[in-house]
Amino acid sequence: MTTSVSAVTRRELVAIVGDDHVLTDRDLTAGYEVDWTGRFRGSTPLVVRPGSTAEVAAVVQLCARRSVALVLQGGNTGLVGGSVPLAGEVVLSTRRLSGVVDVDADAGRLTAGSGTTIAAVQTAARDAGWAYGVDWAARGSATLGGSVATNAGGLRVVRYGSTRAQVLGVEAVLGSGAVLDDLGRLDKDATGFDLSGLLCGSEGTLGVITAARLRLVPHQPDRAVTVVGLRSLEAAVAAVGQLRRVLPGLEAAEAYRAAESELVARHLDVAPILRPAPPITLVVECAGSGGQADLLASAVDSLDDVIDAVIADDGPRRASLWRHREALTEAIATLGPHHKLDVSLPVGALGQFAEEVVMRVKVAAPQSATWIFGHLGDGNLHVNVTGVAPDDDAVDDAVLSLVLDHRGSISAEHGVGAAKRAWVARQRGPTAMGAMRAIKGALDPHGVLNPNVLL
Ligand code: FAD
Ligand code: MLT
Ligand code: ZN
Repeated sequence: MTTSVSAVTRRELVAIVGDDHVLTDRDLTAGYEVDWTGRFRGSTPLVVRPGSTAEVAAVVQLCARRSVALVLQGGNTGLVGGSVPLAGEVVLSTRRLSGVVDVDADAGRLTAGSGTTIAAVQTAARDAGWAYGVDWAARGSATLGGSVATNAGGLRVVRYGSTRAQVLGVEAVLGSGAVLDDLGRLDKDATGFDLSGLLCGSEGTLGVITAARLRLVPHQPDRAVTVVGLRSLEAAVAAVGQLRRVLPGLEAAEAYRAAESELVARHLDVAPILRPAPPITLVVECAGSGGQADLLASAVDSLDDVIDAVIADDGPRRASLWRHREALTEAIATLGPHHKLDVSLPVGALGQFAEEVVMRVKVAAPQSATWIFGHLGDGNLHVNVTGVAPDDDAVDDAVLSLVLDHRGSISAEHGVGAAKRAWVARQRGPTAMGAMRAIKGALDPHGVLNPNVLL
């Protein structure tokens, strides 16, 4: 694979997508070269923006013929450096493949182009009397294709599962240039391999996802949110266990510590929700057809060791409680480029891990600060480290080695990208790595797609 693009290839790309959609001007390509965190920065000879599946196929076939490596980019909100041209690749942007193609209101199914934002998918689902079960703070920019490629999780996994659980089928241009049309799969279909499932979490290494067909979930008209203060992460883990038992409509269970509570309050220029900020703040939402505030209040009453709690059932107050949790990523980003380590652990290990990880990071980088929050209902913590150089991997190694010691996963929902490639084999082992490489070789025989991601 090469990273240089000849004038001939450039003209061939223009012939496929049109002059307006091959960007070479530095002012226009710059935004595609750096990731959301500012930690991963590369450069590209050009950005190509196909507007249809046929154009994507023609671009991939051309790049395979000319041995030109591609990096795929949707909304560029990924947090593991997988969407930027770190080795000088051409960027293939999917943003023009946007639009909801079809909503089947009777079946609760929605089909959309891969460049459609998650917010647009959610709106179309709602307009049809349904809901989309996946949601997170970057909903306005993250694309459907990126979310399928990373198997995005977010705030509602505890109830609906991650993106993989919503995907019924995909259309994708494989690295071979062939179009896989798997959109028409029915709910019950026992005809061999689940190829759409294989594309979920493949991080752009096997194919360019051009469209996806999604399962919708029932719209829940009544919602309540509580913010609960607890003395320790162990107490919060026990509380979530209890809430899962008594609240069938539990939709979210998120946690952050006092340090993050104060940081985000400063960032938003408001007071923390609970004052003084408790050791652990737990944000819980439940939803159903009615009576959710009462159900949630009695569930909170059943918890041990609660320091303080507030509850909201009207839209604006619910949003103001969520605002602190949703702005954590942004608040940490104001401290400069940082290392994001998104990990999951057996729930019994979460408390001990959260204490040990702070000490391990301090040893690896004494001048750093560690910020921890996450989706407690899924055993998923986000360990963020500020005050270290973007390319200093010592903290990543400290955190991810500790995760592996606890039999956790080095990536719960953000993916492996370029950031965690060095650690995947330690988690997955030689047989799984060999199988993944064989699949990559079969579907992307020329190694055109995301050559520096995941494998
Ligand atoms: P990109 O960043 O453009 O790409 C991500 C990866 O997918 C790259 O490897 C890219 O090559 C590949 N890719 C993109 N499009 C395609 C395609 N069409 N076909 C094949 N491969 C493709 N993530 C969570 O899981 N949970 C969260 O709670 C969450 N919260 C976030 C909050 C904020 C404020 C931000 C900035 C990010 C958050 N993320 C979260 C991360 C991010 O939004 C997700 O990883 C999302 O799925 C990325 O979508 P994207 O369109 O931006 O993809
Ligand atoms: C979140 O849960 O807010 C996201 O995964 C983003 C992050 O980890 O910062
Ligand atoms: Zn998250």
